[in-house]
Amino acid sequence: MSGHKALTIGLLGAGTVGTGVLKLLQAHADQIERRVGAPVRVGPVMVRDISRNRGIDAQWTTNPKDIIANPAVDIVVEVMGGVEPARTWLLEALNAGQSVVTANKELLAKHGRELYAAAAANHVRLEYEAAVAGAIPIIRPMRDSLSGDRITKVMGILNGTTNFILTKMAEDGADFGTVLAEAQALGYAEADPSADVDGFDAAAKTAILASIAFDAVITLEDVEVTGITAITADQIALASKMGYVIKLLGFAIREQLATGEETISVGVSPAWVGHTNPLAGVRGANNAVLIEADGAGQLMFYGPGAGSLPTGSAVMGDVVTAARGRLAGERAGSVATTEGIKPVPGAGQSEWAVLLEVEDRAGVLAEITSVLGRNQVSMKSVWQEGHASGIEGEGVSLLIVTHEADSQLVKTTVEELLGLPGVQTLISLTPVID
Ligand code: NAP
Ligand code: HSE
Repeated sequence: MSGHKALTIGLLGAGTVGTGVLKLLQAHADQIERRVGAPVRVGPVMVRDISRNRGIDAQWTTNPKDIIANPAVDIVVEVMGGVEPARTWLLEALNAGQSVVTANKELLAKHGRELYAAAAANHVRLEYEAAVAGAIPIIRPMRDSLSGDRITKVMGILNGTTNFILTKMAEDGADFGTVLAEAQALGYAEADPSADVDGFDAAAKTAILASIAFDAVITLEDVEVTGITAITADQIALASKMGYVIKLLGFAIREQLATGEETISVGVSPAWVGHTNPLAGVRGANNAVLIEADGAGQLMFYGPGAGSLPTGSAVMGDVVTAARGRLAGERAGSVATTEGIKPVPGAGQSEWAVLLEVEDRAGVLAEITSVLGRNQVSMKSVWQEGHASGIEGEGVSLLIVTHEADSQLVKTTVEELLGLPGVQTLISLTPVID
């Protein structure tokens, strides 16, 4: 068909994502050849356990040298996960002039700067569309299409596993552990699913998106992280009664301080999302990313956030981009630089749902409102469940939704509330997004 010599990809890993890549490449080989202008062939595929029958014909290997710095391999596709040995091998590949495609958000969120620099120094591409939000094209739209605009906010559902769990808990009353096992069986969860449920996977994706949005170097350490393990069926039911759904959100928001200095608030946290907000309707393993930019206004990107073929699709888009780049002798894009904007871990300015266990006796609410007033935290609404037993002094749930307030101020105010004799425990402190 085309007159160009075939390009060869080498795969590091052939698990959930790797097999999706191999299937798509096999199914769409002719179309990919037309789009690239040369055939794209699969070369060596590296796995840990070579004896396992994967139902796919490939040149299996356990030796990284068959792929890394092998002049017969043009593009290295890393879909094995983890920081090491992936970091070392990808640096070697970039330094040897190979293009790299990776789905590894943990690696990019921790060592992205080093990898982008190696790609730029060697004039090769480092593509990572699959690292954030599965099949959804989000990296390239942010990096290229919105590069002439100024992004002010990125907020989204960035983890398929936790959204799947929260959806099933809310809609079917399912049990946390059972749904997590289902998400693992469907290939959504990370090798260690605590990365999903403790929020670190979403945090890595938030750091990557924030770095692109704000031309800054934002790493995993800059992100304040709260996962979903403390969310109970009772909290989901209460939120629903109040008109909200609980979603695990990642956010990176440009904010101006009173001093005029700009900051970026970066975090991952369960949030109460109003039923009419577009993020509230994102169900199952789907992801969605909301972006606000000065010129474009509000944009929403939506689609499957995990799984073999959806993620494989994003990887294959990167393979085609990298292959075209190699044929055109293209130079790689520039490295992310810092504008000097300081990331601040946390949700920044938000409304808050403060759910407390308090003593059911006269005067408790007055003590609480006095602390809120002194700290300039204004209440939007208050709710207390009627007491069935009517026993004086027994604990009841008290929900206070605040007007917009800074996360640090709300945290110190809640600390003060917990020192009151009538306040027993903090059940949850959650940003509220209408
Ligand atoms: P997975 O199913 O656990 O597959 C990992 C593959 O890598 C396996 O084939 C494994 O070999 C191989 N591998 C792991 N460590 C290796 C090593 N040290 N040397 C050689 N081979 C090694 O993982 P996955 O779900 O496909 O995820 C892969 C990457 O994609 C991760 O970075 C993940 O965060 C990212 N990602 C996943 C999804 C998703 O929906 N699953 C979506 C987006 C991004 P064996 O098969 O022999 O064990
Ligand atoms: N474990 C991740 C998730 C895979 O559930 O979203 C996609 O990055």
